[in-house]
Amino acid sequence: MTTKLFISGKNWKLSLGEIISYLEARNAKFDLEYFSKEFFAINTDPGFGSNIEDLGGTIKIGEAKAKFPTEIVKESFHDKNKQAQAQITQSLATSSIVDEMAKSEEKMLFGVSVYCSEKTLRQLSSVIQRFVGSTIKNELTDCGKKSKFMGFSKDRRLAQLSHVEVLKKNLVENKSEVLFCIGKDDTWVAVTIAVHNPFEFQKRDIYKPNQRKIFAMPPRLARIIVNLSACTPGKVFLDPFCGVGTVLQEALLARASVIGVDVNAWCVKAASENLQWLKNEYSMQDVEFRVVQGDVGRLAEKVGQDMVDCIATEPDLGPALRQIPTVPYAQKIIEKLRPLYFGFVEQAYRVLKQNGRLVLVTPYIVSRSGQQITMPIDERAESCGFRLVQPFEKQNFSKAGSRAEELVGLRSLIEADERHKISREIHIYQK
Ligand SMILES: C[S@@+](CC[C@H](N)C(=O)[O-])C[C@H]1O[C@@H](n2cnc3c(N)ncnc32)[C@H](O)[C@@H]1O
Repeated sequence: MTTKLFISGKNWKLSLGEIISYLEARNAKFDLEYFSKEFFAINTDPGFGSNIEDLGGTIKIGEAKAKFPTEIVKESFHDKNKQAQAQITQSLATSSIVDEMAKSEEKMLFGVSVYCSEKTLRQLSSVIQRFVGSTIKNELTDCGKKSKFMGFSKDRRLAQLSHVEVLKKNLVENKSEVLFCIGKDDTWVAVTIAVHNPFEFQKRDIYKPNQRKIFAMPPRLARIIVNLSACTPGKVFLDPFCGVGTVLQEALLARASVIGVDVNAWCVKAASENLQWLKNEYSMQDVEFRVVQGDVGRLAEKVGQDMVDCIATEPDLGPALRQIPTVPYAQKIIEKLRPLYFGFVEQAYRVLKQNGRLVLVTPYIVSRSGQQITMPIDERAESCGFRLVQPFEKQNFSKAGSRAEELVGLRSLIEADERHKISREIHIYQK
């Protein structure tokens, strides 16, 4: 097993849930050693990590090259203890980081990003970044290698390179971005092995032939819900409220055999064209899709019973609101949608195979007075025969200690986007 460091997107719980689901769906051995909103440290098979394009919620993945107690970092930078600083220098020098960088032919360009979940060290991130940068530069000089350290202006809020900077400067190919990840007890030094490519996700969003802005789910979130449904190559995947097919596209890229259903005839045509475009764009001749018109109330008739391995879907979150609603208005929105959701859950149970998974997005409203108004879907799902899958189970956290309690026991994941007054609640169920 090797230790990988994961830097997540804005919603770290969703990103972590996605990674765990992705690994479990592939029966991968893994152990979550540390998590915080800044980064995760996961021990996995050596092969995992370069396939970042499979994940919607991960921004960078690094491979750990050195680890030492965070106490040494505190002594080095709080107390300015020279001996502790020498220990960090030694640790960097004996890791393979500099040797790998020294192999490149031209003048080396490298960067350092600091991710810090230890509050007391956070304001020292820029100092730490410059220290690590100059240590590596000195080591490279000692190896006879000319190098350039990608420093940045002091007014930058975080001492971190963005994934776009890493992409543009080819730092992954050259193994030349160092991630300095400071946890509560341990600190890891890693080399970036993969970064999220926003242009790929953007391409599928804005260049697909048919768009529909108002109901659209961002492709990265679509990929996350596909992964939460345990979708792997060859499985039968269904989105019964498929719209223009954003979720179906991500499932097709995950190499599932894809079925879409929508009540609206224009959507059926639009989603089919979008999927055909995707197949051509990504040269995927070996994957199949089918999109049919139909009402979800008759889903089992359309799709057949016990036919589907995974469902991930967002039926309808209610109207686009200009203002945060009052409690009565939020309750009215939920009441109006309830029959659609309740009817669908029963149909979903029928079309799924045994052990098949349903990932369902429901509206999550925080009212003007701060009260949470949600769709009471757990009870309904359980009465249909589903078992609730909690995104985080105890056994994944054997090394993460008591902090795991913050996650274990969560029944759903919330995705809030400040532009929308109605957020998403993501539930996972198993037949
Ligand atoms: C929120 S949109 C899905 C958007 C989709 N995730 C996307 O990003 O393209 C919901 C879709 O459900 C469809 N729909 C609404 N009621 C339906 C029903 N009873 N049966 C089937 N489809 C329905 C609507 O036509 C709409 O396209």
